[in-house]
Amino acid sequence: MASVFSASFRNYALVGLIAASVRAVPDKMLCGQYDHLSDQSNRYRFSNNIWGRDNSGSSCIEVTNNATALSTTWSWKANETLVHAYPNINFNPVQDDPIQISNLASIDVKVSWTMRPALSRSLAAFDKDGLAIIDAKSNVAFDVFFDTDIAKAVTTTAPSYEVMVWIGQYGSILPIGASNVNMEKLPKQTIGKETFTLYQGPNDNGQHVFSWVAGSNRTEFEGDISPLLHYLWRKGLILATNYIGVIQFGTEQKYATSNVTFSVDSFAINATKGMPKEASGMLWECSPWRVALVVVTVTMICLL
Ligand SMILES: *[C@@H]1O[C@H](CO)[C@@H](O)[C@H](O)[C@H]1NC(C)=O
Ligand SMILES: *[C@@H]1O[C@H](CO)[C@@H](O)[C@H](O)[C@H]1NC(C)=O
Ligand SMILES: *[C@@H]1O[C@H](CO)[C@@H](O)[C@H](O)[C@H]1NC(C)=O
Ligand SMILES: *[C@@H]1O[C@H](CO)[C@@H](O)[C@H](O)[C@H]1NC(C)=O
Ligand SMILES: *[C@@H]1O[C@H](CO)[C@@H](O)[C@H](O)[C@H]1NC(C)=O
Repeated sequence: MASVFSASFRNYALVGLIAASVRAVPDKMLCGQYDHLSDQSNRYRFSNNIWGRDNSGSSCIEVTNNATALSTTWSWKANETLVHAYPNINFNPVQDDPIQISNLASIDVKVSWTMRPALSRSLAAFDKDGLAIIDAKSNVAFDVFFDTDIAKAVTTTAPSYEVMVWIGQYGSILPIGASNVNMEKLPKQTIGKETFTLYQGPNDNGQHVFSWVAGSNRTEFEGDISPLLHYLWRKGLILATNYIGVIQFGTEQKYATSNVTFSVDSFAINATKGMPKEASGMLWECSPWRVALVVVTVTMICLL
C-alpha cells in the first residue's frame, strides 16, 4: 500500500514539475563571478556580482519561487575593509529606459529580508548574536547610478554618481565619507517613519558616492525613496538633468569567518516618470515648483 502510494505520488510530482517548468523559472543556484538570471517578465535580474573577488572565500546566489526570492550564502576571510561582492536584484525597466531626475515622480520600493549565519537556528530575521560570533561585516542597501550622459548612466562603473540607501548594517561598517564628520550636522531626510542621514565622498573608481543611511536596521522597508535623490539637485549638489540608469537592491559583503545567508523573501521596485514630489522637511525653500505656484497664484489674484 505504502509503495503504491509513493509511486503514484512520484508520478503526480513529475507531472507537477513538467507543468511548472513551462510557466515558472526553476530554482537555480549560481556561483560564477558575474552569473545572473532574469525573471520571466524580464523586470528583475538577479546577479551574483563578485566584483571584488579575492582568494579568501566565495559567494553564491540562489533564485527561488519562480524568481520572486533571492538568497546569497557567502564568507570572505580576509581583506575585511574591502567590498568583495554585491549580489543584487536589478530593476531592468530603468536600464532599458533611463529616467531624468527632473522627470522622476517616484521610486516605490518594498522589501523584506533576513540575515543570519548559514547554520543559525535563530528565528530572528536579523540574527545579530549569531553574526557577532562569525564577525560578519556587511550591509543591506539600494544602489542607484546616474550620469548626465545616458549611455554611461546604464552602467555601474562609468557614471559620475552613485546614491546608496542603506537599510541594514552589521559589524560597524561605515559609508564613504563617514570618518571625521559630526553626524548631528549632516543632512537628514525622512521617508515614512525612517530618518536617513547623508554621507558623501569619492570611491576608488572616482565616482562621487552619496549614502543615505537609515537610523535603524529595517528588515521590512516600504516607501518612495525618490526624495533622497531630489534632495541632491534641490540642494545644488548635482544637476537635475542627470539620468538614472541603474537601480539595484542587495548586500555588500565584506567579511565573515563562516557562511552568512542573506535572503530577500519578497521585493518590489517601481520607478515612475512625472513631476517630482516635494522633499520632506523643505517646506519653505524656493523649489522651481513652488516659484511656479506663487506666480500662478499671484496671476489669478490679479485677474480677480
Ligand atoms: C512566474 O512569474 C511570471 C512573471 O515573472 C508570471 O507571469 C508567471 O505566471 C509565473 N509562473 C508561475 C507558475 O507562477
Ligand atoms: C587581499 O587583497 C589583496 C589586494 O587585492 C590581494 O592581493 C590578496 O590576495 C587578498 N587576500 C586574499 C587572502 O585573497
Ligand atoms: C559556504 O557557502 C558556499 C557557497 O557560497 C558553499 O559552497 C560552501 O560549501 C559553504 N561552506 C560550508 C562550510 O557550508
Ligand atoms: C544595526 O544593527 C547593528 C548590529 O546590532 C548595529 O551595530 C547597527 O548600529 C544597527 N544600525 C543602526 C542604523 O541602528
Ligand atoms: C508602478 O506605479 C504606477 C504608478 O503609480 C502604477 O500605475 C503601476 O501599476 C505600478 N506597477 C507595479 C508593477 O507596481
